[in-house]
Amino acid sequence: SSSEPQYDLVVIGSGPGGYVASIKAAQLGLKTACVERNATYGGTCLNVGCIPSKALLHNSHLYYMAHDGEFKRRGIQFDDISLNLPVLMKQKDDAVKSLTSGVAYLFKSNKVTGIRGHGSVSGAGQVVVTKEDGTNEILKAKNILIAVGSEVTPFPGIDIDEETIVSSTGALSLNQVPKKMVVIGAGVIGLELGSVWSRLGAEVTCVEFLSHIGGIGIDMDVSNAFQKLLTKQGLKFKLDTKVIGAEKTDGGIRVKVEGATGGNNEILDCNTLLVCIGRRPYTKDLGLNSVDIKLNSRGRIDVDKNFQTSCKGIYAIGDCIQGPMLAHKAEDEGIICVENIATGRKPHIDYNCVPNVIYTHPEVAWIGKSEEQLKQEGVKYRIGKFPMSANSRAKTVNEIDGFVKVLSNDRTDRILGVHIINSVAGELVNEIALAMEYGASCEDLSRICHAHPTWSESLKEAHLQAYFGKAINF
Ligand code: FAD
Ligand code: NAI
Repeated sequence: SSSEPQYDLVVIGSGPGGYVASIKAAQLGLKTACVERNATYGGTCLNVGCIPSKALLHNSHLYYMAHDGEFKRRGIQFDDISLNLPVLMKQKDDAVKSLTSGVAYLFKSNKVTGIRGHGSVSGAGQVVVTKEDGTNEILKAKNILIAVGSEVTPFPGIDIDEETIVSSTGALSLNQVPKKMVVIGAGVIGLELGSVWSRLGAEVTCVEFLSHIGGIGIDMDVSNAFQKLLTKQGLKFKLDTKVIGAEKTDGGIRVKVEGATGGNNEILDCNTLLVCIGRRPYTKDLGLNSVDIKLNSRGRIDVDKNFQTSCKGIYAIGDCIQGPMLAHKAEDEGIICVENIATGRKPHIDYNCVPNVIYTHPEVAWIGKSEEQLKQEGVKYRIGKFPMSANSRAKTVNEIDGFVKVLSNDRTDRILGVHIINSVAGELVNEIALAMEYGASCEDLSRICHAHPTWSESLKEAHLQAYFGKAINF
């Protein structure tokens, strides 16, 4: 009949949370539409986040190796190294384009209806889409999934123009290398994009309120080693320091900073100012009032274990709910949420097993608890630590910076947290995710055959050290 809803599920937002949920829902037989206000699918991650930043990180690293003499030290000689920034940017844009159009292709092949426009909830089971031409379309849905993601947290009093005062979005598309760049916040974005522009030739200073780099959750051993390595690469850090304001002048930008607890006033001059002090949920004009959904004190949407909001049939996932703002976390929540809607099954996520990666060089990755967290929780732990300088593969290719640090339960030998800093930490951490999901002990991991010579053997050795007290090669 005409009162029957057109869709089993309408998803608002096509970021990694929304697009993955849409595809999975369609695969499970739900008639699904995905509403996206942006011209392309893929959300923050594909358009202005994970994907473009990793393209720039990779190529700026190659440039840095060439420029800094690293290739020459390896016997690869050439003269006249120069940077063609437009070409470097084009490779990034091409990567973004092929992945965002890949989502459009996947929508077609999985029979997800993509609808361009701004979606808002206008009652239980109803989404209004406002199209670019101003017209409205009303979608009736049995279920609604809110996957609207997040936006840059603004800095009070500092206006982002995305040209000289930029957020991560502007910093992914600068059309020249700034002479001096100041970064507010030495968290994930500050370190990744600070590295990019430093490698391309900018003098980069990161101002950080906390007394360490890498944000919340990073193990202090890793943070300290990481800071030394980045400093060697040319980045400058002003820790325990807060920005109190910035003003544009004819020559550039004057950034006013002071000590975290006051005093030590200083002016930092720069050509580009990058504001990256975190992100906040994007819930503008979403119509939540119409169904009486309230935001919590952090501006996020509260959900239950099945990602259902306070309104029956309306769900939310990803950056707009609690938890780390990460693409893989949003994806996994999307899958679980629609599996529950379609099948009634209740799979779950162990948030303790969600990996964190910072894609600098070396990379930093961790999962589970840090040493500081275990101390705070009063858990008795053992440490296994293995330096990359003792890993044969790292030695072979002369990338010996960093280490693997394992924290295990002193009594049961169970893996509690692993902290990695080395060239391929972001890949290695997934092995630990697998081990921890299966409740592995350090002995388990140290008895599993690892191919030689590989970086992964550093994991085996660190776990051996944690459980037996001694590694073989160190
Ligand atoms: P989003 O990706 O933000 O997608 C939400 C989508 O909803 C957007 O397309 C938006 O246009 C749309 N939308 C919002 N409101 C409406 C509406 N009312 N109607 C219609 N459409 C709407 N995470 C990682 O895991 N690894 C990384 O390497 C990484 N790098 C990053 C680098 C940068 C520079 C940034 C900024 C972020 C990075 N992140 C990374 C974080 C990652 O991008 C987010 O965690 C992820 O995109 C969240 O997914 P989401 O689906 O919840 O939301
Ligand atoms: P962040 O939370 O990682 O770091 C922000 C930093 O700014 C913190 O260290 C904070 O102490 C500092 N800060 C806040 N106010 C300040 C002030 N007034 N003066 C000086 N320092 C101040 O946030 P960031 O880097 O903006 O990234 C946002 C989010 O995007 C991340 O939390 C993460 O969820 C996601 N992301 C993930 C990536 C990855 O997984 N590789 C890469 C980039 C972003």
